[in-house]
Amino acid sequence: MNMHATASRKGLKQRNWAAEMIAPLSDEGVGRPASFVSKTFSLEAVPAAVELFISAQGLYRCFINGKRVGEDLLTPGWTNYDHRIAYQRYDVAQLLVAGENHIEIWLADGWYRSPLMWGKDAIPNCWGDRIAAIAELVAGGRTLLSTDANWKSGALPIVKSGIYFGEVYDARLAALSETHGSEVIAFDKALLVAHEAAAVRELAALVPVDQWRDDEGRLVYDFGQNVGGYVRYTVRGSAGAQVRVEHSEVLGPDRFFDNRNYRTAVAETLYTLAGDGDETYAPYFTFQGYRYARVTITGEVEIVSISSVPITSVAEIKGGFESGSGLVNRLVLNAVWSQRGNFIEVPTDCPQRDERLGWTGDAQVFAPTACWLADSEQFLRKYLRDVMADQRPDGAIPHVSPDPTRLHPEHFPGYAGSTGWGDAIVIIPWVLYTHYGDRAALGECFDAMVRWVDFVWSISDGPIVRPPPHWGDRGFTFGDWLQPVGDNRKPRPTIADDCAATLYHFISTELLGRIAGVLGRDDLRQAMERRAGEIREAFAFEYISASGRLAHNDQTSYALAFLHDLVPAEHWDAARGHFRRVVEDADYRIGTGFIGTPALLPALTKLGMDDLAEKVFLQEEVPGWLYQVKQGATTIWERWDSMAPDGTIYDPDMNSYNHYSYGAVCQWLFESVAGISPDPEHPGFARVKISPTPLEKLNPVSAWHEIAKGRIEASWTMADGKVEYIVSLPEGCEGLFVPTVRHVNPVLDGKPVTGDTLMAAGRHLITFEIPKSN
Ligand code: BGC
Repeated sequence: MNMHATASRKGLKQRNWAAEMIAPLSDEGVGRPASFVSKTFSLEAVPAAVELFISAQGLYRCFINGKRVGEDLLTPGWTNYDHRIAYQRYDVAQLLVAGENHIEIWLADGWYRSPLMWGKDAIPNCWGDRIAAIAELVAGGRTLLSTDANWKSGALPIVKSGIYFGEVYDARLAALSETHGSEVIAFDKALLVAHEAAAVRELAALVPVDQWRDDEGRLVYDFGQNVGGYVRYTVRGSAGAQVRVEHSEVLGPDRFFDNRNYRTAVAETLYTLAGDGDETYAPYFTFQGYRYARVTITGEVEIVSISSVPITSVAEIKGGFESGSGLVNRLVLNAVWSQRGNFIEVPTDCPQRDERLGWTGDAQVFAPTACWLADSEQFLRKYLRDVMADQRPDGAIPHVSPDPTRLHPEHFPGYAGSTGWGDAIVIIPWVLYTHYGDRAALGECFDAMVRWVDFVWSISDGPIVRPPPHWGDRGFTFGDWLQPVGDNRKPRPTIADDCAATLYHFISTELLGRIAGVLGRDDLRQAMERRAGEIREAFAFEYISASGRLAHNDQTSYALAFLHDLVPAEHWDAARGHFRRVVEDADYRIGTGFIGTPALLPALTKLGMDDLAEKVFLQEEVPGWLYQVKQGATTIWERWDSMAPDGTIYDPDMNSYNHYSYGAVCQWLFESVAGISPDPEHPGFARVKISPTPLEKLNPVSAWHEIAKGRIEASWTMADGKVEYIVSLPEGCEGLFVPTVRHVNPVLDGKPVTGDTLMAAGRHLITFEIPKSN
């Protein structure tokens, strides 16, 4: 077992197991009927407290005496199963009886062995080909029952299930029979760690907002919200009758039920009725990404009720932003729903197609927003352990984690090492440190960070990174993925891979220096500061012309270079002018992709070009954040041009309507527009930096954020060139008002202020005037 395996379990809770990992002998392999293992056992008396410790290869659901244990979904969860597997603990005394008891553990393919990745290259059995369970009942340190070779097994009514596939359930097979035994299999119990983050749970069910019959008489339901989750229904009908549910995120023109963008993900459920009264069904071991459901009935079936059940690992929302713009408010809500639907055990790119993978680039750009909107600390800490487990021997960080390709490189060779994506290993821990004061995250990931930054230096053995052009080549980069070119007959400027890669080379090297400083690793701090200096110089030489124009003259270059202070003072004003012209020449339309977009508006407001930031943010044409909201989006789209104004969907081969990456703009709404940001010098909101950017067209604005210490609230209203800004800080949280040129004659709690001013916890009023013109 390589050192990274043990490293990724360091500090995690583990236990000694009496139980064995047992595989059902009824199992016929991936894509075949699911199986259960079971045991009937007697208890003289039921102890007051009985704990069940349980885990599995594949997904499991446990029942004791016919009652379900807990409400967690998709257990044991998704990790790099060759490095660590989560176990769960439940109190089950209330399910047990004195005398004969029966326990069943249902098992299915899940992420462990159902095909992952896309199309003809999908990889089955990514982490292994045998589903199995390990479980024990413990009372007062005494093991009452544990999995061993004496357990029985048999087939489940789940005839087939898969993460992309969906599920086929035949209720006529619900009466389980123990047709087979079980086998103890070789298994390293040291892999088992206590579940690291909140379990996946259901959110409140959504009832249909509309329904109709299509030309073929099928019922189509609109649940009004695109989610990651599943459709649950109750039906009545005859034995053998069937209910097939298909899913889609969008309707094309004429309400065309369009899910071509699911690609090879079947994403359906098929339920066969037993015919005995009311039957309720929702899939056990999979989920879909959808807003609409199309129901095809075969035979005699009455639909008694139907709803859409969103599921997520982040059930509680911890932050909100409201403004005078209904479109903007909906956009923020869309980011919340995209986080919910893609934070299901792993931060995924999308929940609907044959992908649903833990893309590192997406996770790093969205991480700050994820922490503003929900408590994402343990969820992202767990993800970072996945990423470290997938780090390659040469330091390359995977494109996706948990990475199905790491053990199967023949399918997708070299699926690691892209700048902008791999930098997640440096950036996400820093976000957790600033937002939660989580210094341990820095320490736990530090070695992996150093190995990554050294990998990037090694790509071209120097400060300028020259990525090779082909996927799979060592050092290949996604650049600024999906950077729009506008009209391709007269394309707008875009950034070249080497420039994008070198920008992130600098970003991570400089940040690693800061992190080394926080951890007291002065040797590395100095080394990284030196190296960052080298990259900064090389960047200026390579990409900044004498006139201050950046080589590619595109929005991403200017945004990232200005945000990370890579533009030398002597070129600052000229480069700022070029930046303004590039945005104006694009009619204030966005010219950035996955890595440029989170930097665009923060860079514009950093440079005091609030007028541009407001125009770009509020323009409603493609590419733009508000176009998709106007088109009826209820989550964030993968592409700016995902749908034409007439509803026709763009290029179904890569077009998700639930991708949180562009939702990263919410960080700017909290930190610039509402003016509250965490202070890395005083992490975990021990101090809040306060410096609002009032934009007239968003007037009035209010934001809130729940932190461990309590609730931060900030709001401003603007009238007649004056702004009233109210901020309230919980105990243990101080504020630092940072006045800038956009705050003329600032007055804090009745006293004029001239410079940065500390504020104690409590409620404060700041007033200032708006500068006459920008
Ligand atoms: C994914 C993105 C990812 C990108 C990188 C896409 O297929 O959906 O989320 O960042 O690939 O290439």
